[in-house]
Amino acid sequence: MEGVFKNNRNQEEKIISIESLSKFRGSQEGLKQTLVREAPEYFIDKGGAGSVYNLQGGLCLKIVSDRHNSENSDKYDLGNSLHEEAFLQRRASSVTHPGLTRVPLVYGIVDIQSLDAYGNERKGLIMEQLPAVNLANICYANKYPVPEGFDYDSFVSDLENFIELLHNSAQIAHGDLYLRNLMVDTSSSQPYLIDFGRSKDLIVCSKNQAGKYIDDDWKLFYEETEKFKKYLQIK
Ligand SMILES: Nc1ncnc2c1ncn2[C@@H]1O[C@H](COP(=O)(O)OP(=O)(O)OP(=O)(O)O)[C@@H](O)[C@H]1O
Ligand SMILES: [Mg+2]
Repeated sequence: MEGVFKNNRNQEEKIISIESLSKFRGSQEGLKQTLVREAPEYFIDKGGAGSVYNLQGGLCLKIVSDRHNSENSDKYDLGNSLHEEAFLQRRASSVTHPGLTRVPLVYGIVDIQSLDAYGNERKGLIMEQLPAVNLANICYANKYPVPEGFDYDSFVSDLENFIELLHNSAQIAHGDLYLRNLMVDTSSSQPYLIDFGRSKDLIVCSKNQAGKYIDDDWKLFYEETEKFKKYLQIK
């Protein structure tokens, strides 16, 4: 299916067909196989909601099951639909920031024409693949070293300036500023902010609610970056 999807504020998000994506896997069949079985050879990393796979051409694919129709879905906060996530990430990626922090560029959404093991529909967010690792994988999983030349103070202050613009210019609260959603470039040490799966569109919030989401962002950001600072001190 190719076309446009309108989110809950009637704004459009591009839906990309598997056919037009096949250039990233050489053949349409090859790509379909990757999407259907979530091929481990292309696996990059996963979080609570999605798994991220490498596509060729500098892109990656975050595959998420739509659990909004599943049993007990009303009892959990499932976060944004993938369309809402793509919409907010696209807006966040267009923030003009004099510093270095960036958000991965959004390419579009792909309908994965097979269900997950629980019968839920799956969708994929196609975005720029970052040459980066997340801070939780450095700090808790010990999977990667801190990149050479990494400077904690400039990293955090650059991110801080970006988050300020995210709130005030893009009108988005990130909503999930854990270390796993902050990435660092393995060569240049520049920061990246990822994962808009719990972000809030402040344009459609009351002033009070928006203020609360912004306060929550700062509280979590400082708690999390303090943890990273402690890790750097004891390492
Ligand atoms: N654009 C990207 N380029 C490279 N790696 C990425 C990219 N996006 C995500 N990742 C990796 O995949 C992991 C999972 O992605 P993401 O955080 O979007 O998933 P999630 O399931 O929504 O996470 P959470 O558990 O925080 O809700 C990230 O922590 C990061 O390591
Ligand atoms: Mg995440």
